[in-house]
Amino acid sequence: MIQTTAVFATTVDGKISAVDRKAHREPDKADQAHVEFQASLADLYLLGAGTLRSEGGTLLIRNPELLAMRAARNQSPQPITCIVSQSLRIPTDLSFFSQPIERWIFTTEASLKAAAGSPLLNLAEVIPVGEQEIDWDYGYAVLAERGIKQVAALGGGSLNADLLKAKKLDMMWVTIWPTLFGGKEAPTAIEGDGYDPKQAPILELLETRQISSELFLQYRIHYRDKSG
Ligand SMILES: NC(=O)c1ccc[n+]([C@@H]2O[C@H](COP(=O)([O-])OP(=O)(O)OC[C@H]3O[C@@H](n4cnc5c(N)ncnc54)[C@H](OP(=O)(O)O)[C@@H]3O)[C@@H](O)[C@H]2O)c1
Repeated sequence: MIQTTAVFATTVDGKISAVDRKAHREPDKADQAHVEFQASLADLYLLGAGTLRSEGGTLLIRNPELLAMRAARNQSPQPITCIVSQSLRIPTDLSFFSQPIERWIFTTEASLKAAAGSPLLNLAEVIPVGEQEIDWDYGYAVLAERGIKQVAALGGGSLNADLLKAKKLDMMWVTIWPTLFGGKEAPTAIEGDGYDPKQAPILELLETRQISSELFLQYRIHYRDKSG
């Protein structure tokens, strides 16, 4: 059984980045340490191609204690990063491709066929999981076959929405940044088509922590059946 935890941060007005998606935020040590700890528990990260294109790379575990804990659990020093991309339009000069990690890409059969000969195919293991669209049941069967037990879903909002729709997210850790980004075009934590409130997932609050004006909230996700 694979356990998947989404780990993300939003402003109080629900924005996971500003309108300018590449705009840098001031360093936030408490949140960085929290995210690094949660990420260090994972065998594999799922990361949307949009986030990779905005950020250029994946999260590296650097804290020696967390690296020692991974070694004690027989995990590789860094979790595998599995990018999710329909288009396979991922620039090959991103720093991601020189990070000391194992790189996988989930895509579709159709996209893989269209990308024949692309240099991307030499830089990561490209795994088709679905014909025209990502099939998450199949994708998760591939992960299970490869021994993955703990997944951290590191965003962004499109990937989160799709994993929720496929009922693959079990838990969420949400950091509430004490600020407001505003802006209709600024991305939110859950994009996609949205929910009828009667069918929206229900969140059970398991833990809260406060550091200064920042909140860290852990939720278990309960899905409803179609009748809501
Ligand atoms: N605050 C936080 O915690 C946090 C966390 C993560 C990201 N972010 C921010 O969020 C922004 C990115 O948002 P985004 O909406 O672009 O998010 P995203 O989910 O990272 O990227 C969307 C792209 O990922 C691929 N993708 C995702 N799910 C897919 C699926 N089921 N099937 C096929 N392809 C799929 C597609 O790539 P292709 O276009 O290649 O097909 C899609 O265009 C960035 O500004 C990033 O910095 C913030």
